[in-house]
Amino acid sequence: MLDEARYFKGMQQVKMLLDEMALLKMNVFHWHLTDDQGWRIEIRKYPRLTEVGSKRAATPYPARRDQSDGVPFGGYYTRAQIQSIVEYAASRHVTILPEIEMPGHALAALASFPELGCSGGPYQVAKSWGIFEDVYCAGNQAVYRFLEDVLSEVIELFPSEYIHIGGDECPKERWNACPKCRAMIREQGLKDADELQSYFIKRIASFLAGNDRRLVGWDETLEGGLAPDATVMVWRDPVHAHIPAKQGHDVVMCPTAHCYFDYYQSLDQEHEPRAIGGYLPLEQVYAFEPIPEGLDEESSTHILGGQGNVWTEYIQNAAQVEYMAYPRATALAEVLWSPLEGKDYQDFIDRLPFFLRQLDELGVSYRSL
Ligand code: ACM
Ligand code: ZN
Repeated sequence: MLDEARYFKGMQQVKMLLDEMALLKMNVFHWHLTDDQGWRIEIRKYPRLTEVGSKRAATPYPARRDQSDGVPFGGYYTRAQIQSIVEYAASRHVTILPEIEMPGHALAALASFPELGCSGGPYQVAKSWGIFEDVYCAGNQAVYRFLEDVLSEVIELFPSEYIHIGGDECPKERWNACPKCRAMIREQGLKDADELQSYFIKRIASFLAGNDRRLVGWDETLEGGLAPDATVMVWRDPVHAHIPAKQGHDVVMCPTAHCYFDYYQSLDQEHEPRAIGGYLPLEQVYAFEPIPEGLDEESSTHILGGQGNVWTEYIQNAAQVEYMAYPRATALAEVLWSPLEGKDYQDFIDRLPFFLRQLDELGVSYRSL
């Protein structure tokens, strides 16, 4: 997964990453295209999403999270560029899984269309990192019409059977205070704001199903009840895979403990580029076991696979993406494609230089061992 909302990289850089993925036999590119800090995909029906939502007034300095650089930042992919990237990926046997975040992480959209938030705004495309209380109003029919219009264009652009709708880190303060949201909770006979989120996601899932697509959401979409046929992407504790897998839902595993490539690669943080935090050395990626502990054999058939996540609050360009992704993605690819019995970290390390020479030839800026 590549986060382009925090930093937009551009078509050439994405195509390069797709080449690298193909080399590693990675077959799904999860593309995080919208968030609080930017909307990165042209939507014909709503040009304001990119006119307003693709630009932020400033960004925190990497070394000082609480200080703003005061420099405007922006960027987005046109429909033509997206078509070109989708084709490029397909010719390398990579499917692109687009992500349009809802109901939280939506400030870039709300800045463009303030009437879609509970308070009516005004809102700004976020200039800092974090989780923001302003989210789409779940009690407003116009929000569902808007999101269905957006998803219709996403479906037109991306052949992927799966469409990711985010669903993580959605604070409920605004919903609890909003007359429209409270009315929706009453009318639909829901218990609370968690169930309102579940109603929201189920409604979107049913729209996608009507268009022959399947919804993927982060593991918070479990809270308040899962939509039928929804696939869950587990990013927190692997234990969150148990309920959906046992209920027969498909699951993709990317727990922070093994798959967050935005974490530091060394404990010697002084000598590493500034990162968001955490510590994920190569060996711990290699130790990843995509089937969560204690899951029965039948339910385990619902674990579709795993992925590495490159969130980019502190990752501004392709060279930095490559530094954070390699060689960790190499370890992940081997783990995901190999039977458990054959795993041998020392043997992997002995073979790794052969792969790194290929990366050298491609000019990839991986982190040296
Ligand atoms: C996530 O890292 N919030 C999915
Ligand atoms: Zn509301």
